[in-house]
Amino acid sequence: MHKSKRLLRPHSRLSHLANMIQAPYSTVWDCCCDHGLLGMSLLNAGYADEVIFVDVLENIMTSLTDRLVQDFPQNQYRWQVRCDDIKNIVVPNADSQLFIIAGVGPHQTTEFIDSLCASAPDTAFDLLICSVHGSYSVRQTLINQGYRLKAERIICDKNRFYEAIYVSKSADQTLVDTGSQMWNWPDPMHQDYWHRTVGHYQQKAKNDSAQFQPIVERYQLLRAAIENTAGIIQKQR
Ligand SMILES: C[S@@+](CC[C@H](N)C(=O)[O-])C[C@H]1O[C@@H](n2cnc3c(N)ncnc32)[C@H](O)[C@@H]1O
Repeated sequence: MHKSKRLLRPHSRLSHLANMIQAPYSTVWDCCCDHGLLGMSLLNAGYADEVIFVDVLENIMTSLTDRLVQDFPQNQYRWQVRCDDIKNIVVPNADSQLFIIAGVGPHQTTEFIDSLCASAPDTAFDLLICSVHGSYSVRQTLINQGYRLKAERIICDKNRFYEAIYVSKSADQTLVDTGSQMWNWPDPMHQDYWHRTVGHYQQKAKNDSAQFQPIVERYQLLRAAIENTAGIIQKQR
């Protein structure tokens, strides 16, 4: 593989995820890798000594193996392809591992996080999560598992919003269910994301107020806090 060859579209969701990673890791697991673009890009850029690609789809994993053999010869790169369910993965007892789970819904993402953590309760590993919708419940799962925040971003790609949540048990910052440092309120794109998120939970609260109204209120509180801080900063200027 040529170092200059670009695997990820600039400013795409996957390229944002790659840019957030604080490398190097000994092992990066590209979970639910599909065509493996993210993992290949990390392998190409030397983000990890080894990249392990995992997905359940046999035909996709066969073509991915063919591509890796050709573009990332095993005398130069370390990689493995595992055709398996993430829920069967037992996290090995090793230092410096990152598991990336991106492009699946919140229910599956939550199941995968819980399963990885249950497989090795005494092994520390970092997670980079970017689920499709439902980041609130994913964040609650991460908080319950004892994760803390390394970095987070709101990503808009092809008019769809995502939250990238990068966590470690040894990170300095508290992980917040509504997100914290990722919000840049003057950015209209972030305001749009806030409105869509609150609108989504308001809609759900119409059928199940007990479950979803508290979530609406969490986001409203967050907005009030952000606007309050922005007002204080403006007054100080
Ligand atoms: C939309 S792709 C995401 C690809 C890439 N991670 C991304 O973010 O663009 C979702 C992938 O998750 C895989 N997948 C779904 N459930 C899985 C499971 N239980 N174990 C492993 N892979 C799974 C699917 O086969 C599919 O390739």
